[in-house]
Amino acid sequence: MDPNTSGLVQKLAEAGQSHLLQFWKELSTKEQQELFQDLQGMDFLEINKFFKSAMETSSSTKHEKMDGRMEPVPREVLGSVTRDRESLKDWEAKGLDCIGQSKVAVLLLAGGQGTRLGFSHPKGMYDVGLPSHKTLFQIQAERILKLQQLAKQKTTVNCCVPWYIMTSGRTMESTKNFFSEHKYFGLDKDNVIFFQQGMLPAMDYNGKIILESQGKLSMAPDGNGGLYRALGNQGILDDMQRRGVKFIHVYCVDNILVKVADPTFIGFCVQKGADCGAKVVEKTNPTEAVGVVCKVDGRYQVVEYSEITLATAEKRSSDGRLMFSAGNVANHFFSFSFLRDVVQEYEPQLQHHVAQKKIPFVDVQGHIITPEKPNGIKMEKFVFDIFQFAKTFVVYEVLREDEFSPLKNADAQDGKDTPTTARHALMSLHHRWVLNAGGHFIDENGRRVPAIPSLKDGTDLPIKCEISPLVSYAGEGLEKLVKGRELQATLMIDEHGVHELVKNGV
Ligand code: UD1
Repeated sequence: MDPNTSGLVQKLAEAGQSHLLQFWKELSTKEQQELFQDLQGMDFLEINKFFKSAMETSSSTKHEKMDGRMEPVPREVLGSVTRDRESLKDWEAKGLDCIGQSKVAVLLLAGGQGTRLGFSHPKGMYDVGLPSHKTLFQIQAERILKLQQLAKQKTTVNCCVPWYIMTSGRTMESTKNFFSEHKYFGLDKDNVIFFQQGMLPAMDYNGKIILESQGKLSMAPDGNGGLYRALGNQGILDDMQRRGVKFIHVYCVDNILVKVADPTFIGFCVQKGADCGAKVVEKTNPTEAVGVVCKVDGRYQVVEYSEITLATAEKRSSDGRLMFSAGNVANHFFSFSFLRDVVQEYEPQLQHHVAQKKIPFVDVQGHIITPEKPNGIKMEKFVFDIFQFAKTFVVYEVLREDEFSPLKNADAQDGKDTPTTARHALMSLHHRWVLNAGGHFIDENGRRVPAIPSLKDGTDLPIKCEISPLVSYAGEGLEKLVKGRELQATLMIDEHGVHELVKNGV
């Protein structure tokens, strides 16, 4: 473990990163061992190369250039749950067939750090305060279970939707333990496959790797586009091939309404012969923090909210809608062969994006400093940066109130994308499912509650109503439980029946 004899000193000198050993003599043997191991495992020349090209592409003139090169998604690649109603049943049937033949896998991106939420565990372990107190992971697991059942009803054979879960160095251990403690939420353990994305060091503006303490580098996951490298080097692509997976639904952990392996979306993409697809919702507010799917220089891409000017975000078409309205909800479809080509061929062409951050660091005296303004960058690849390589790319527009309510921030008054907004979005969707299935809600005096809550009297809170995914995936199968019934909140419908918690004094 001698940095001199092992060649580490020379390797660092060649890469201009010698400062990483500046506190070597002050470290304990254990700290030396850990630092030595971390440094030995790193390819500094590659990291320097990433830094150089990431900084070049994020030069200050980039925004203006990007704006001028953007075009909206053309109508012919767009499918929509509202405009294409007559096709939805066909698409759904097609998707369920594929699921029934075990050709569909889901892949969860869960390697993020969830900094904005301020929760010290992986975000999927978050309980937004539903009556059932289910976590995001449990809700997603149960949707997979239900879908397997629905597909079986259609095809009469057992099927399996493997669930690939990408974690990072920081979230792997706790994610795995959580699943194991909860017995994989009823899924077959062999069909829940964890893998780990890579990490990259944070760097200062001169390309020097930042030390977060005397013996530790400041490391962060390499972005959700780190997926593609990980798929190759963790054997996941091989696993998919072995299982005969043909289509993959990739999604982010934080959307409580996510329709995991949505058969309609999958069926739409398959019927269009797409190798790559993106689900979107209409962006109605120019400053909303979602990326937009569009074309840049004729190639499909998501342009992040931070990458365009307000003037472009505010541009409107002649019908008054935002010109760049295809809001990315981070739900993507890939054919297996496309994913394989990306991993084997295109991945090295993907550029890292630069995020300027306030990165705690250790100064030359060995003090840990928390800076007040950004002092360096993190480098991240983005999952959607491979759209540009697709031969047939499609976009599928869904309704925000049915499918998109991400959990990004901690609760705050009038906060956006918080536990409260996520909980309300789910309960309000389930309320609508009950009404659509012919049920009614009554208040404690036995009066019918209006379907649309009134803002005037402060009762704009959704009716407390939660339906287990084990009972219904997307609102189906509820008539037999609620039709013609007068129900009182808090209403919970689960695999054991219909429960009115207030009536029963719960
Ligand atoms: C993401 C999308 C954005 C979209 C928005 C919708 C990306 C890059 N951006 O933005 O276009 O409008 O969601 O909610 O996809 N993750 C990893 N590894 C990482 C970093 C993140 O797996 O290194 C995962 C997170 O766990 C999460 C997802 O990627 O599931 C999205 O990450 P987040 O940082 O929340 O992205 P947003 O900026 O919100």
